[in-house]
Amino acid sequence: MCGIIGYTGTANAIPKMMKGLSVLEYRGYDSVGIAAQENSKTKIVKCKGRIGALEEKLRDQPIEGSHCAIGHTRWATHGGPSDKNAHPHRVGAVTLVHNGIIENYKDLRASLAEKGVIFQSETDTEVAAALINDCFAQSGDPVASIREASEKMKGAFAFGILFEGYPGEVFAVRRGSPLILARGKDGYYIASDMTALLPFTKEYYALKENQIVRLSPGGGRIVLSDGTKIAPQWETTTMTPESAQKGGYSHFMLKEIHEQPGAVVKSVSPRINADGLPDFSSDGIEPAFWQTVKSIQIVACGSAMHAGLVGLRLLEDLAKVPTSVSIASEFRYHPPILPEGSLVIVISQSGETADTLAALRYAKENGIPTLAIVNAVETTIAREADRRIYTFAGPEIAVATTKGYCTQASVLWMIAAAIAHTTGRIDDAQAKAITRSLLCDVPAAIEQMLTLENRYHKIARNLINHEHVFYIGRGMDYALSMEAALKLKEISYIHCEAYAAGELKHGTISLVEPGTPVLAICTEQALLEKTESNIREVRSRGAQVTLIVRDDLPTPPDPAEEVILLPTSSEAATVFAALTAIQYIAYETALLLGCDIDRPRNLAKSVTVE
Ligand code: M6R
Repeated sequence: MCGIIGYTGTANAIPKMMKGLSVLEYRGYDSVGIAAQENSKTKIVKCKGRIGALEEKLRDQPIEGSHCAIGHTRWATHGGPSDKNAHPHRVGAVTLVHNGIIENYKDLRASLAEKGVIFQSETDTEVAAALINDCFAQSGDPVASIREASEKMKGAFAFGILFEGYPGEVFAVRRGSPLILARGKDGYYIASDMTALLPFTKEYYALKENQIVRLSPGGGRIVLSDGTKIAPQWETTTMTPESAQKGGYSHFMLKEIHEQPGAVVKSVSPRINADGLPDFSSDGIEPAFWQTVKSIQIVACGSAMHAGLVGLRLLEDLAKVPTSVSIASEFRYHPPILPEGSLVIVISQSGETADTLAALRYAKENGIPTLAIVNAVETTIAREADRRIYTFAGPEIAVATTKGYCTQASVLWMIAAAIAHTTGRIDDAQAKAITRSLLCDVPAAIEQMLTLENRYHKIARNLINHEHVFYIGRGMDYALSMEAALKLKEISYIHCEAYAAGELKHGTISLVEPGTPVLAICTEQALLEKTESNIREVRSRGAQVTLIVRDDLPTPPDPAEEVILLPTSSEAATVFAALTAIQYIAYETALLLGCDIDRPRNLAKSVTVE
C-alpha cells in the first residue's frame, strides 16, 4: 500500500530517492520521507503530504554528499497521516521504511515497551524497527537480526533498512509485500516496483518470500532463510521510462484511456493462433485444460471484480459454464461450495492486492485449480497461481483503473471463446468472428469513442451540479453500470449508484426527483425495450436522462436528452465503446471539479492490506 525505495552506489542518492518516490506516489501519498547516510550518520527528513512538501523541507534541511538512502511514500493504515507517523522510523541503530501491515504489532509493542522502548508514533512500522533493533542489540549482526525479527512478525512486509555502523549498506526483506532488487551502472536499488527504477536501470530481480538482501555499492547478495547466500538472477524489463510518464497528456488517467485500443490488441493477439482461433498455448494453457472446467468462481476486488461480472455474462452465455463472482475480501469468510471441476479465476491489475491474494491462497490450500489474470508481471498473485494470463496493458499509474479493466474484460472474452470453442459450443467460424471482433472491431470502436470528448464534457457540466447520480442498465449493462459508478465516485467524489434498471422501481426510485441525473446504458439489443420502459419511469419523475446506447435504435431517442451512440460492428465493440464513454465521463467530471484525478483522496493504487 506504500511505496519504498533504496539505493547505494557512487551517485548522489537524494535525486534518485526523489525521482523514484515521485513515481511511487501512486501507491500512497499521505506522507513522504527519506533517510540518508551523511558522513556515516543517518539523517531523516520526512513530512505529511506529498513529494513537493518533502522537496521544500529538504531546502531547509539539505542532505549533502549521500550515496546511500532509503525512501517512502505512505498510505496510512496504523496512525493517521502526520509528520510523526511518516516513515522512515528510527529506533536505536535501525532506520527503516515499510510497506505492509504487522498484524501482531500490539503484542510486540507491549513487550518492547516493557523492555523500555518509548515509541514516538502510532505505527506498526516503528514497532518493527524496535524489534529489529532489539534483535540487533543481541546478535550485532544485521542479517541475523532481520531474520530473527521476521520470524516474530505476523503479517505482510517489505522493509528497506539502514543500520548505524554499516555505511554504504542497504538491507531489505520481504514477505507478502512486493520488493524488487535492481542493478544499475552506478549502484544497486530496491523498490516496491520496477516503474520507480526505470529512470535508472532495466535489470531487476523480483525478491522471493523471506529473502533478505544486503546491498553495498559493489554488489547485491541475497540471503535465504537458512542463511545460504545466492547471487540474484537478473532479468531485463521491457518497460521503458516513457511508459511510466504522461507523454503529453494532462493526466495518467487520460493517457491510459487513450492507450486502450493498443492495450486490447496486445492482450488479445498473442492468444489468437494462425487459424484465427482462440488459443492460450503461449500462456502454457492447452485446449484440453478448458474442457476440464465445469464451473468457474471469479474472485477480485473493485474494478477487477467488475471485469469479472462482465466475464460471468460471457462464460455463462457463450461458454455455458456456471460462473459466479465473489468480492475477494468476502470470499475467504464465506467461501462458496465449489464442485469437482471448479476453477478459481483471480483478477488483479497490480498482482499484489492482499484480499485477492488471500482468496487465491485459500483456493490453493483447498486444492482448487487457480488461474490468475494479472497485468503487473512477476507479482505475487501471478507467481502463486497455478496458471497465469498477463493482460499486457503496460504500467498503469492512475489510481482509477481504465486500461487495466479494459484488458481484463478482453482476456475474459477470449477465455469464454476458448472454452466455448474447445467444448464445441461454437464452431470455427463463430470463434473466429469473436477473435476478429476483439482484435479489430473493439480497438476501432474505442478509437471512435475517444473522439467524443466534447460530448462527455457537456454531460459532465451537468453532473457537477448534482450530489447524487444513477447509472442504470440490465444484464451486461448492469455490470458496466457498476464500473461506471465506481469510476465517477472515486475520482469526482460525486455519489453515484449503479442499479439494475428493472430494480430501481422496488424502492430506490423514491430518490429520483426533478433534475436527478440518470445515465442509462444499453448495449444489448434484446434488452432495449425493457430498459426503455425503465428510462420512461425515471423520466416521468423528472430525471435528466443521458443515454449511452446502441447506434441502431429502432426509434430515435428523445432530442431533449443527451445521447452517446455506440458503434454496433460487433457485440464486443458496443460493450467496449460504452466502457470508454463511462470512463471519459468520469474523467471530464473530475476535471471540471478540479479533483486530483490521478491521485484521488484516501486511495492508493496497490492495496496490499486486507
Ligand atoms: O490491482 P487490482 O486490480 O487487484 O486492484 C483492485 C482494486 O483495488 C481496483 O480495481 C480499484 O477498485 C480501482 N481503484 C478502481 O479504479
